[in-house]
This record gives sequence, structure tokens and C-alpha cells, in this order.
Amino acid sequence: MTDLSTGPFPKGFLWGAASAGHQVEGGNTDSDLWLLENVAGSIFAEPSGDACDHYHRYADDIALVASFGLNTFRTSVEWSRIEPAEGRFDREAIAHYRDVLETCHRYGIAPMVTYHHFTSPLWLLAGGGWENPRTPELFARYAEVVTAELGDLFDVACTLNEPNLPFLLGALGLGAKTPGDRRHIPMFVNAAAELGVDPAIIAPFQFSATQAGYDVKLAAHRLGRDAIKSVRHEIAVGWTLANSDIQAAPGGEQYATTLRHDINERFLEASRGDDFVGVQTYGRHAFDEDGALMKATEGVPVNQMGDEIYPQGLSSTIREAARVAGVPVYVTENGLATTDDAQRVQFLEDSVDVVADCIADGVDVRGYIVWTLLDNFEWIFGYEPKFGLVAVDRATQGRTPKPSAYRLGELARLYTS
Ligand code: BGC
Repeated sequence: MTDLSTGPFPKGFLWGAASAGHQVEGGNTDSDLWLLENVAGSIFAEPSGDACDHYHRYADDIALVASFGLNTFRTSVEWSRIEPAEGRFDREAIAHYRDVLETCHRYGIAPMVTYHHFTSPLWLLAGGGWENPRTPELFARYAEVVTAELGDLFDVACTLNEPNLPFLLGALGLGAKTPGDRRHIPMFVNAAAELGVDPAIIAPFQFSATQAGYDVKLAAHRLGRDAIKSVRHEIAVGWTLANSDIQAAPGGEQYATTLRHDINERFLEASRGDDFVGVQTYGRHAFDEDGALMKATEGVPVNQMGDEIYPQGLSSTIREAARVAGVPVYVTENGLATTDDAQRVQFLEDSVDVVADCIADGVDVRGYIVWTLLDNFEWIFGYEPKFGLVAVDRATQGRTPKPSAYRLGELARLYTS
């Protein structure tokens, strides 16, 4: 392990655990994904249901973050709770999130707030979701309200989480590439029938890999950022990107270069002028000359999804982000899906080493935030993948911290000057 006894990590470095509303709160019934999870033909392994009941247990969960010795909790506020009907803002939901953020402060934890983490209000989906040209202004209005109501309680804000994910999924052969494709996908057809709209306009955030999807997200980020800044200029604003280490197998160089541009670089270029960019890396993807994804080599350790465990990927993505975006970097997500926590401990140690090397090389990295606090709802995969620092028994909602949680706190103590 790198010798960090001289503490190369900058003062104020954020060490944290990340989470996202829909994946942990439970009962997010006014959201678009609630419909998609429950509709006939759903591609979700199971619905989110009551998740980890974090909506009611947040104080205990935040206390856990503090007990590990971390100083940051990245969390998200749910648009569909705050604005359950277009233009109607819900006082109770806003008060709830105020209490969440105040609880962080009571425990000496700095909250980092994501305004949009994949889920949107159902009414937004019915109106064309993330391909509707009106969505950027609707998002900006919501961002302004959130900042006016809660912005005194945090200093770092993420507008959109992983706007580039659909393009990465597209390269892996998942997701609809044109609006018309949705007319042939039962989940979209059935959701559209419930909403009384054409399936072609069902454009949820995670599944829209079209040009319109790109344009709308970019505009939403910019208008959202300006809205946040117009209320409280001192909040540092950026977006967080799904940046895989995209590599070429022999013959795949041209294809990998194109993908790297479409998935990573054009989003990083769009981050220029922001206060930071959030890097979220889970490994590498290597493509061969036919554009096919290379499978993990026989015998190498793999995560629960069958992908190679590759902490070194974070080195390339941090450096790529700093080089292309030219702004400070926070690692806003990095983690491992495994039922073997010893693997996670090793992964975290290796990843922190990677961050230390980047900092020693002069890269401006300001935080390392692990995905994720709790074993939670892993989107289409349901509850099977275990990314958490804390195990959750969903029958009793009991929490059991894993050794990796304490190891992360120890690393924070060891490596902070
Ligand atoms: C997302 C998280 C997700 C994690 C692990 C990221 O794509 O931001 O919501 O759970 O990766 O797959």
C-alpha cells in the first residue's frame, strides 16, 4: 500500500458513503420507476417496495455513517415527493428532507445533495420525460425550490446523476436507441397504456440513449446549475458521471475511441465551467474489433454481476475527468457488488491507493465516497447485488455494519493529514 504517513490527502477531503432516495427510502409511489417496476412486462427483477425504509430510519442510518468515522453522506432528494403534481410543491416532503439534512449536521456529517438520481415524477414521464424539450425548465424550477428551501444546509450539489449511463448501457446492448423502439418493448407499451400516451414518448432518465435525451439532459444540467447558483452562489455545483475505464482489445481501438468520446469525453467537456465533476467508476469495459464486450478472463475474481474486479479503472477515469473537464474531481461513487466483504475491504484499500496516487501526481481530487451505505434496491437487478457497507435484513429492517465500513473509516483517519 502507498505510504501515506505524510498525508497527501488535502485538508477538508470528503470521506463518505453514498445513497439515493429511491433505492433506500421505500414507497416512492409517485415516481416513474414505481410504475415501470410494477407494470406487466417489467424488466425489473422485483419492485422496490418498502426498500430499506430509510424514509423513516434515516436518523439511525446517518448515525451509522458518523460511527464509521466518515465525514460525508451523499444523498438525494426525490423530485416526485417534493413536486408530486406539476407545479405543486409538498411542504411535508420538504420538511422531511430538511430534517434529514439537519440530522447530518447534528452528527457532524456534511451532506452532499443530488437533485436527481434516476427517478422522476410520474407526471414528467407522462409528458415525455427526458426527451421533452420542456423538461430542462421544469427541472430548473424544482432545483430553485429545493435550493431556496434547503440550500442553507449543504455546500456541494449534484444536479443529475449519470446522464451518460444510457449510452454506456447502449454500448452493452441494453436500452432503446430511438423513441420508436419503445413501441416494441412491453414494459414501455404497458406503462404508456396506463398513462394514456404513445409508448414512443416514454423516456425515463436511465433508458433514454437518444440524441434528444442527450440534449435535454445537458440543458437541464445547465439550467439547474444556474437555478441553484441564483439562490445560493456559494454552493459548489456539478453533475456525476458513469465513467467506466473504456479499453480496447486488439483491433478494437477505433471503436473504443468513439465510445470513450460518446460516453465519457463529451460529458466531461460539458462539465467545463462547473465547480467540479463527480466520477463514478465500477471497473473497465474492453471492446474488440466487432464492438463486442470482452468477458472477464477465466479465473480472475469477479463481482456479483460477473465483471472483473478492477479497482485500477478508477485511476484512468479520475485522470481522464481532470484532463478533459479541467475542474476538481470528487469520486462520488465507487464500490463493489459482493457477498464476500473481505473482497470489498481489499477493493477499498486498492481504490484509496489509486486516489492517493492521483493526488500525489497533482490531480485535484477532493473526495472519495463509496457506493453504498446500505444493501439496497439495485434497479433492474432488484435486491440481489450487495454493494452496501451495511447489511439490511429486509424482513426486520435490521442493520448490520460490515467490516468494510469500519475499514473505510480507518483509511480516512490514516490518510487525512
Ligand atoms: C448508480 C447507482 C447504482 C450503482 C451500482 C450507479 O450507476 O448511480 O444508483 O446503484 O451505480 O450499480
